Amino acid sequence: MIELESVRKRYPAPQGSGWFDAVHPTSLRIAQGEIFGLIGQSGAGKSTLLRLINLLERPDAGQVRIDGQDLMQLDARSLRQMRQKIGMVFQQFNLMANRTVAGNVAFPLEIAGWSAERIRARVDECLEIVGLTERARHYPAQLSGGQKQRVGIARALAPHPSVILADEPTSALDPQTTQSVLDCLKDINQRFGVTIVIVTHEMQVVRALCQRAAVLSAGRIVDVVEVQGSDITTHHAQTRALLEEA
Ligand SMILES: Nc1ncnc2c1ncn2[C@@H]1O[C@H](COP(=O)(O)OP(=O)(O)O)[C@@H](O)[C@H]1O
Ligand SMILES: [Mg+2]
Repeated sequence: MIELESVRKRYPAPQGSGWFDAVHPTSLRIAQGEIFGLIGQSGAGKSTLLRLINLLERPDAGQVRIDGQDLMQLDARSLRQMRQKIGMVFQQFNLMANRTVAGNVAFPLEIAGWSAERIRARVDECLEIVGLTERARHYPAQLSGGQKQRVGIARALAPHPSVILADEPTSALDPQTTQSVLDCLKDINQRFGVTIVIVTHEMQVVRALCQRAAVLSAGRIVDVVEVQGSDITTHHAQTRALLEEA
């Protein structure tokens, strides 16, 4: 249901003139309901590839289709509507400090023009799902890192997305808190069938959460692995190196 067809993204080269491919022409299919990982070292192109999925970065070539819809063909208004179906979770949480937990979760629904009554009900529901009902009136500064990220997840979930894109959602967290956030994402995938695409540099995250993962290196997918139980079999040297690191 997420189909990337030869997508390419170039940026100006850091030194001197010309351009380089942050993402070389890449094709990838991710099934409805799947938890899919993008793993690789810093600078490999993971975030760029993730952001191509909702056109936060527009590809220089290729196609992005979600449920058969070619996103590049949508006008600004239809693209905004399509993006309601794609939630996003960030490494640094990106919460609004001057809004309460409930206010943060309400934000995308306000933007989408929901009635106050529907917003209240949905915010309660989402805070219940991530286990933060008691924190509704608190401000982000009063929360732990793991709690902040669960607010981020509740906010992403609020508009009933079919996909959640998560960019290193646990990289700012300690190992124990990481597990609670991964459990939260897994729970949302299982209960609501939300497709999750998660960027990480940690093989442990892939093992704990994903069904499949693409290994990126220098802007290319060099391997796609399946996770069986928590085992990953590969013949690719780059993937083996990441597995040994973990
Ligand atoms: N907006 C940008 N402008 C120029 N170069 C960028 C931009 N975003 C990313 N890059 C470069 O593209 C490459 C891939 O970046 P990124 O996708 O962020 O990698 P990752 O998430 O795997 O660390 C890096 O070399 C990075 O410096
Ligand atoms: Mg990144």
